[in-house]
Amino acid sequence: MTNNKDINKQNIVLEIKDLHKSFGNNHVLNGFNLKLYQGENLVIMGKSGSGKSVMIKCLVGLMEADSGTISVMQNDITKLNQSALDTLRADIGFLFQGSALYDSMTVRENLEFPLRRHTKRFDSTANTESLVIEALDSVGLRDAIDLMPSELSGGMKKRIAIARTLILKPKIMLYDEPTSGLDPITAKEIILLMQTIQKKYGTSSLIITHDVDCARVISDRMVLLIDGKDYVVGTFAELSKHKDPKIKAFFKNKTS
Ligand SMILES: Nc1ncnc2c1ncn2[C@@H]1O[C@H](COP(=O)(O)OP(=O)(O)OP(=O)(O)O)[C@@H](O)[C@H]1O
Ligand SMILES: [Mg+2]
Repeated sequence: MTNNKDINKQNIVLEIKDLHKSFGNNHVLNGFNLKLYQGENLVIMGKSGSGKSVMIKCLVGLMEADSGTISVMQNDITKLNQSALDTLRADIGFLFQGSALYDSMTVRENLEFPLRRHTKRFDSTANTESLVIEALDSVGLRDAIDLMPSELSGGMKKRIAIARTLILKPKIMLYDEPTSGLDPITAKEIILLMQTIQKKYGTSSLIITHDVDCARVISDRMVLLIDGKDYVVGTFAELSKHKDPKIKAFFKNKTS
C-alpha cells in the first residue's frame, strides 16, 4: 500500500552518506547511506543488533560516527557549532523507545519541559498553556493534562510522548519502535496517529520498526540495514516480493 500524498524528491531533508561506526572489531556501520525526502515516511528495518540505534544516535548527536557525513536540511551536522546544532536539533523530534516520560511530572509538566529547553523557538508572548493543549488535542488526550504518567496506559504514554515531541513542531520525526510493547489494536491506533500527524504538520519521518504490519501501512519507502549497509531500498511491495533470501527473511509468513 502506498500513501497517497505529495513527496518532494527535489527536497532532501536528511541525508546520510557513507557512515562508518565500529566498536573495536565490531564494525557496526560499514558505509550506510540514506535519503529522506520532504513529506515521506521512510521505514528502517534490520535485525536486532544490526546498528539501527547506533545510526539514529549518530543522527541526533548522541554518538560520534567514525566517518561519513550527515546533513539535516542541507547543513552538515558534523561542521556546526553548538548553538547552531541546538537550533537544528529542535527541528528533529525523537520518540524514544519506551516513551521515556518523566515519572515525577504531570502530563502538563512533561509537555512544558521541551518548551523551556527551547525558549528561542517561541516568542515570549507564546502561551504555554495553549501550546500544551494543542499538542494534547492532536493526540486526542486533552483530558489527561493533570494526570501522572503512572495513571496512564502504555498506549496513552506513547501518545503523550508523541505530543511532547510534537510541541516543538519539528520538521523531521524519528520514531524508534513506536509500536513495540503495544497490543495490535493500540499499535494500529498509534500508526493512524503517526499518519494524521504527518498530514497535519507535513513532517518527514524516519521510523525504525520490527513490525511488518506497521511498515506495510506507514512506509512510502523502506531501507533494510544489513551488514552495516543500506542493503536494499524500495517500497514495501517491491521488497516483500524480493527473491534475495536476506531480504525475504524480513517478510517471511507476513505478506498478504
Ligand atoms: N556504546 C556501545 N559500545 C559498544 N558497542 C555498542 C555500543 N552501542 C551499540 N553497540 C553495538 O553495536 C551493535 C548495534 O547495536 P544497536 O543498538 O544499534 O542495534 P539495533 O539494530 O538497534 O538492535 P535492536 O533491534 O535490538 O534495538 C551491537 O553489536 C551493539 O553491541
Ligand atoms: Mg535499537
